[in-house]
Amino acid sequence: MTMQRHRIAVARRFGPPEAIAIEEHPVASLRQGEIRVAVRTGGLNPVDARRRSGSFGGTVPMTLGTEFAGIVVESRDARHAVGHEVIGWGVSGADADLVTTDADRLAHKPAGLGWALAGGLSGVGQSAITALASVRLVKGDVIVVHGAAGGVGTVLTQLAVARGFRVIGTASAANQEHLRSIGASAVVYGAGVADRIAEAAAGSPIAASVDLAGSREAGDIASAVLRAGGQSITLVPETMTSHGIRLVQVRRSAAQLQELLDAVADGTLVLPVESVPFTNIVEAHRRLDSGHSRGKLVLDLSDNPHLPAEGSLT
Ligand SMILES: NC(=O)c1ccc[n+]([C@@H]2O[C@H](COP(=O)([O-])OP(=O)(O)OC[C@H]3O[C@@H](n4cnc5c(N)ncnc54)[C@H](OP(=O)(O)O)[C@@H]3O)[C@@H](O)[C@H]2O)c1
Repeated sequence: MTMQRHRIAVARRFGPPEAIAIEEHPVASLRQGEIRVAVRTGGLNPVDARRRSGSFGGTVPMTLGTEFAGIVVESRDARHAVGHEVIGWGVSGADADLVTTDADRLAHKPAGLGWALAGGLSGVGQSAITALASVRLVKGDVIVVHGAAGGVGTVLTQLAVARGFRVIGTASAANQEHLRSIGASAVVYGAGVADRIAEAAAGSPIAASVDLAGSREAGDIASAVLRAGGQSITLVPETMTSHGIRLVQVRRSAAQLQELLDAVADGTLVLPVESVPFTNIVEAHRRLDSGHSRGKLVLDLSDNPHLPAEGSLT
């Protein structure tokens, strides 16, 4: 029997997006408890760009990507049969057309959920839930989210608004309307941002600052909130945390993913998605590097030859 092969994104050296190439490699036979998935979409996250550039450590050559959605094509675990539509998270080497993983890291994809969102929801959504769980807030509290228009910020803002918190979100001028549409008071970042935040707070104290931007300005806002007796967290490893700003690391669980899927299903959570073909992964990483990708960036593998032909599974 000829060994099956897959296409997988590999960074052969640390460096710019051009360090990534899509290579073809054989895949090993499945072990007990493992599932093979033909990938339909994959989520891209800033951490992928940090790993590729070398700022996250690790060794090269390295595979990239941690989350995806697709169709089970081979299974050695009773929880996921061939043909099941699944979402995978916390899997290394997910930027590939075939991914092998433990069944524990897979959830069923709801039939009504689009493929693009299915591939990109887990990372940003679980990060947003983790961040909100890291601050103590009560209904009516004001929270500043710096960098609110990105993937994490878009989810976090909506979850916070649904819990009755007042969100002041910062973004560029181009994303002000997006912030308002998800329930935040929108503020443009840059010179004078502290005054604009104070104006939006309209006399209420700021209970918490969440930094998703990693800029010096974000650190200044976080420090000011701390000095005034509030709480300050950051999700960005580069942000200076020595002044009491807490660095939060994402915690993932199937229960949290289900919470996100329920919120999408009942319409309380929306996340705009932009798809880039898998073969353009270098361009996708350029957008990640820009720090201004709109909505959630997702790799599109709709032409993946490993995907079952439509109707072949029924
Ligand atoms: N610690 C963890 O476990 C963890 C988990 C998830 C994410 N993160 C980190 O959290 C950060 C956000 O992730 P993400 O997925 O939401 O990123 P993203 O989708 O790329 O969004 C980044 C956002 O930052 C905004 N931005 C850029 N420059 C800014 C500035 N100077 N001031 C304020 N906002 C600015 C951009 O909005 P405009 O286009 O409007 O400028 C963009 O919407 C990343 O650094 C990521 O690595 C950490």
